[in-house]
Parts: sequence; structure tokens; C-alpha cells
Amino acid sequence: MSGQKASAGGQGRHGLFIVLDGPDGCGKTTQLGLLRNALLSEGREIVVAREPGGTSIGEQVRRILLDPAHAGMSRKAELFLYMACRAQLVEEVLAPAFGRAAVILCDRFLSSSVAYQGFGGGLGMDEVLRIGQFCVGGLLPDRTILLDVDLATSARRRGPRVADRIEQRDDAFHLQVREGFLALARTDPAHFRVVDARKDILEIHEEIMKIVKEVL
Ligand code: TYD
Repeated sequence: MSGQKASAGGQGRHGLFIVLDGPDGCGKTTQLGLLRNALLSEGREIVVAREPGGTSIGEQVRRILLDPAHAGMSRKAELFLYMACRAQLVEEVLAPAFGRAAVILCDRFLSSSVAYQGFGGGLGMDEVLRIGQFCVGGLLPDRTILLDVDLATSARRRGPRVADRIEQRDDAFHLQVREGFLALARTDPAHFRVVDARKDILEIHEEIMKIVKEVL
């Protein structure tokens, strides 16, 4: 999952695209907030987005994807709905932001489809990457930071709230998802960094800052 840039922002300035990803309950949303606050002092435009969603169309598709009533959704339909959200987000938000030389911080991206649909759902890494590359049109992250967490820790972090359609899947599925993220990181060490997300919040934040400073 390498190769970029769709459009650099001219005169030597270019956008920066950072993704935080990992299994459910890995703490990426908390870390994204901390990272955003820490980068505010850099004086660059910061664009925060999330998947699935981040656009009006994408948020509507998100509801379809996560509704437990849709238990009968086929694995391929699921993959293409996630890709549809992503295509909309790239065209409407991410590519323009990249063109303005903004720092993009995205909560999940193509790596989630590889882990959840490719590994968890059994559709295969290569197939999902192939479809994903068509979907994103060359806009791939400079760094994807994977917050790696075991099943017990993620279940504890998620707490008692009602699980969405994907979270409701069994442990075997979620184990595959975790394996998928780690496999992806192994195949593309230039763009992926794995952080042990069992550490405490500030320690993880410091590690993330070090990784981001490599490319800032
Ligand atoms: P997310 O918004 O991160 O969940 P949360 O409710 O914890 O904020 O993601 C919603 C779910 O969608 C999550 O279980 C992971 C799943 N997902 C996929 O299966 N494939 C994908 O491509 C993406 C982006 C998410």
C-alpha cells in the first residue's frame, strides 16, 4: 500500500496525510484528538476526517453499514459501501485538502478495509488493495499509525455500550482483523508504524508525535 502523491501543493509545499487505524477499542479517536491539538501550534491547516463517513453522503452510508438490522449484508456489498464512503471522502474532502497543503488526520482508511473485509471477511488482501487503489485514485497516506491492541483490552475499552453490526462479530473475526492490520504493516514498513496501544494514553501520544515528526 505505497505510492503517492495524487497532487502536491506546488512551490515545494505539499499536503501531509496521516491515518490512525486499528481494531475496535484501540483508542484511535482519543489519540487523534490529542494529535490534532498538538499540531495546532504548527500553524498549518489541519483537516480531521473519519471513515466510514466524513461527508454527508458518507454519514448516510455509515448508518446503513453499522445498523445491526442489516445482518444479511453480503461481504462484497459491505466492501463496496465502505469504498463508496471513501471515494466520496477523497473527492470531496481529502484531495482538495491535500492540494491546499493541509495536514490531514484521518480516523481509519483503506487499511481498515484490508483488515476487516480482506482478512476478517475473507475477501483477501490483494483484492481489497486493488479495489482500494482504484477507489482512492493514488491518494495514499504518508503514514498509517496502527494502534495494536489485544481482544481483552479492546473489549474493556469499548465498555458496555451497544455494539454496532461489525463490533458484534465473534472473537475469531476480530482476531483476524488484528492479524490483518499486522500483516499489512509487515508488507509495507515504509508507510506503516505499529504502536502498542496497551500503554497509557500519554505514552502512546508521545510515540505518535515522534512518528508524525518524521514526516512533518
Ligand atoms: P469506527 O467509526 O472506527 O467505529 P467507532 O464506532 O468505534 O468509532 O468504525 C466503524 C466500524 O466500521 C468499525 O467496526 C470498523 C469498521 N470498518 C470496516 O469494517 N471497514 C472499513 O473500511 C472501515 C473504514 C471501517
